[in-house]
Amino acid sequence: MPSITGERLLFHDMKPEQSSFYEDTIKGLNCRPRSIPPKYFYDEHGSRLFDAICETPEYYPTRTEIAIIKDNIDEICECLGEDCILIEPGSGASKKVRVLLDALNPHAYMPLDISSDYLYAIARDLVSEYPELRVIAACLDFTAPITLPGHSEHGRRIEAFFPGSSIGNFEPADALVFLNNIHNLVEKDGGLLIGVDLKKDPSIINKAYNDEQGITAQFNMNILARMNRELKANFDFDCFEHRASYNEALGRLEMHLLCTNSQIVNIENNKFKFKKGESIHTENSYKYSVTDFYSLAEEAGFNPQQTWIDKNELFSIHYLKA
Ligand code: AVJ
Repeated sequence: MPSITGERLLFHDMKPEQSSFYEDTIKGLNCRPRSIPPKYFYDEHGSRLFDAICETPEYYPTRTEIAIIKDNIDEICECLGEDCILIEPGSGASKKVRVLLDALNPHAYMPLDISSDYLYAIARDLVSEYPELRVIAACLDFTAPITLPGHSEHGRRIEAFFPGSSIGNFEPADALVFLNNIHNLVEKDGGLLIGVDLKKDPSIINKAYNDEQGITAQFNMNILARMNRELKANFDFDCFEHRASYNEALGRLEMHLLCTNSQIVNIENNKFKFKKGESIHTENSYKYSVTDFYSLAEEAGFNPQQTWIDKNELFSIHYLKA
């Protein structure tokens, strides 16, 4: 049942299954190579660090994407059209969508996010900031097949927005599943506006994930602090170093935490022996050429309709028609 919280704000809590940091950590640290899912970067401190990464001179994706949207806002709005329901999977702070909302008149904006309290706070901010806007917030897990609340009733055209090259965090096979899910959701008359980081000179990518101020390093290391804090682990931060480098063969930037001094780490009754030189794989960020991405989109049933790229060819935004 939706809770009606105001004339222009609807909130649906679909009660998504919440993942367990403890279970995912134990599982990931027992694997070889060891790994931790990148979604666990984003506790409060990690989210602040990510915002700071976006402000570093080296990290080009965020500012480039926003500039591309602003520079092409008329064409983008033409693709999305008026009166649609604009959905945003993993909406977070709903920051970038504001550039669209300033220019587009959707029937409603529908942020989809797993974190209920945060989603509700952001949805309230949006209705007060945009006096004409209807917001239908839905708390759900967008990595699972999505059922929109009350969709069969309104039967409106749905357009999806997935910025930030978040698609790069998926393994290509999972990216295909995700795009397929979105394709099913927007049906024949809708589409998807998606931001995708481009393949380019590896040195540009390597610099973006090894900023001089060391903020990306702090962001990566914060996962150790989080394990110590929340799981009562005893990682010694002095024994780990941030590593980020572009793997050209696999077309992805990889982040690792490299162990520089052997140590034993305890998490409850689990004992993890780290050898010097061993690492924890914390993130993959896949990069796609335009043709790479078209193949993936087409495989998911989409027709690439328009692509916008900055003049330095750093970042791409695609409008895909279902
Ligand atoms: C939010 C996943 C798009 O891969 O560039 C930034 C995360 N990690 N610096 C990215 C990130 C290190 C970011 N994504």
